[in-house]
Amino acid sequence: MNIRKAVIPAAGFGTRFLPATKAQPKEMLCVLDKPLIQYCVEEAVASGLTHICIITGRGKSAVEDHFDRNPELEALLEEKKKDDLLKEVRRISGLAEICSVRQKEMLGLGHAVLAAADYVGREPFAVLLPDDIYDCPVPCPRQLMDVAEAKNASTLALGRTDAEGTKKYGIIKPRPVADRVYQLLDMIEKPGPERAFSDLAILGRYVFTPEIFDMIRETPPDHRGEIQITDAIRKLVDHQDVYGVEYEGDRYDAGDKIGQLEAILALALKREDYREALLGLLKSHGFFLKE
Ligand code: UTP
Repeated sequence: MNIRKAVIPAAGFGTRFLPATKAQPKEMLCVLDKPLIQYCVEEAVASGLTHICIITGRGKSAVEDHFDRNPELEALLEEKKKDDLLKEVRRISGLAEICSVRQKEMLGLGHAVLAAADYVGREPFAVLLPDDIYDCPVPCPRQLMDVAEAKNASTLALGRTDAEGTKKYGIIKPRPVADRVYQLLDMIEKPGPERAFSDLAILGRYVFTPEIFDMIRETPPDHRGEIQITDAIRKLVDHQDVYGVEYEGDRYDAGDKIGQLEAILALALKREDYREALLGLLKSHGFFLKE
């Protein structure tokens, strides 16, 4: 199995960020010095994925523009001798082979992934949700790709969760097969603590065999009229082996306002160019932290 392609769904409304997302894509909201979508594209590239398809929709042209050349801006930076910024601006547009496909109606994540079916064709591919920022010693999709390639099977990112998380994520029934690797025997979307099979939740990084498209096509919309990717995964489990990897590293869910704040603070504390300044600011506001 050779995995080259990544699909990044970025067509959602981002209602949890309103009013910030009224006229601006959620994926362009900034965490420290770059937008969410750039973390995601860089993670895909660092994993060895060379072809990236971003699923966009109305009002999302800033996402496409971010990865395009901007000759006027480049000329200005050149003239002002801002070499580092010029290099960075050019690096972003040269990151990977990036294209976009429109999801014409926002009918859920499964529906968004299906929009990439023609682009992907009948090859395995990765899906990365840009809400989550992963900070891992080995990029999370790469960790999944290693298992997917060895098993020749769909492989999903798993994380341990608590009772609250069982109301938010799909929870799997696991069969351990190796260190941090599980076969999915079953799964339930948002079961709540009483019905949860385990504390292992499906998170926003996936590697799929192309059969997932067939499963999505067979998946009816849920009570909200959305086609959920987790319903399609459940069907896939009935047809093929599907694995999960409890990935190594940190994850920040920047898909809502508090999560975004946590991501900013946690990443700033890890980065040399921000850490001292942040600690100084917190102290000046009366917070005293262990250093
Ligand atoms: P979310 O449900 O977290 O994103 O979907 P959302 O719908 O934009 O946000 P809220 O819940 O209204 O605040 C996870 C990812 O899937 C994409 C979103 O853009 C996000 O990156 N998505 C979701 C689509 O591309 N299309 C959809 O129909 C739904």
